[in-house]
Amino acid sequence: MNVQIKQDYHLNNDYTDSFSSDILKGLSAHPKKLSSKYFYDKTGDRLFQQIMAMPEYYLTDCELDIFQNKTEELAKAISHINESFDLIELGAGDAMKSSYLLKNLVDKGTDFTYMPIDISGNILSVLQENLNKKLPELKIVPLEGEYFDMLDKATALSKRKKVVLFLGGNIGNMENEEARHFCSEVKRKLNPGDLFLVGFDLKKNPKTILAAYNDPAGITASFNLNLLTRINRELNADFKLENFQHYQNYDPISGACRSFLVSLCDQEVHVGSRLFHFKRDEWIDMEISQKFSEQDIKKLAVDAGFHILVEIRDAKSWFVDSVWMV
Ligand code: AVI
Repeated sequence: MNVQIKQDYHLNNDYTDSFSSDILKGLSAHPKKLSSKYFYDKTGDRLFQQIMAMPEYYLTDCELDIFQNKTEELAKAISHINESFDLIELGAGDAMKSSYLLKNLVDKGTDFTYMPIDISGNILSVLQENLNKKLPELKIVPLEGEYFDMLDKATALSKRKKVVLFLGGNIGNMENEEARHFCSEVKRKLNPGDLFLVGFDLKKNPKTILAAYNDPAGITASFNLNLLTRINRELNADFKLENFQHYQNYDPISGACRSFLVSLCDQEVHVGSRLFHFKRDEWIDMEISQKFSEQDIKKLAVDAGFHILVEIRDAKSWFVDSVWMV
């Protein structure tokens, strides 16, 4: 089953406040910019599942190939730890991919505790229920909240060694500087000998990459436009979706695959009491899905204070799970 549940954000007050201020700030910027982390409301989750099932969208299948067929290599990389540890997964969702690794480790009698982190308590209870059935011996401590808050909690809970998983190519949804900062922050929270396993989508034939994000059925377009629907609903806005067109672009030099929504006419949009002007052909910068070369990954690891222990690729060599040590 090729399904991964993305985060389903809680609408508590803090979250609503940052959603509102981030959106207003982004629409006031030049060029206008919205954050793709807000794509994942209920409809966004459903559209992302449809994207993962599209024949053109290869990322999920490639990483699943690694977790299903190279489980032993993953387990061997982790065995460098050589003592009991906590296996922490950032944005665990339904743990579909990681469950293959968990099973392998449990079958070997490895002494570890699985700590899935997710912003959605609902997803964590589904995950716990499924894993309890599948792997009754597995020790699970679910942590509901933001990545870094929960990493702090995990380090406060136990002094054991840590292995942190960050799968799905999610690191690609950060701008380069943000990714560097993110990796440095993870490193700051870990100790020498701890591991960080990150999934990267690799640079490849530009047509293959563009096709994954520019599907003829327009699911990716709907995924982007859905954020405007969400802003209309949650921030009392009046975006007319038919006045915006999805545009996708891949630059093989930088490796940035970016999506935009282009205004098809001069128009004004209210968001609550604020008014925003859009010129015809003006775009909103919506999402980056960064693609990486081997050197890009090495630089990111080294700059953040890690060294690369081992890299495990899928059969097509399109995706890599890179295992880093502090
Ligand atoms: C979640 N993330 C890794 C996806 C990606 O490939 O950047 C999100 C996505 N955007 C459009 N299609 C898929």
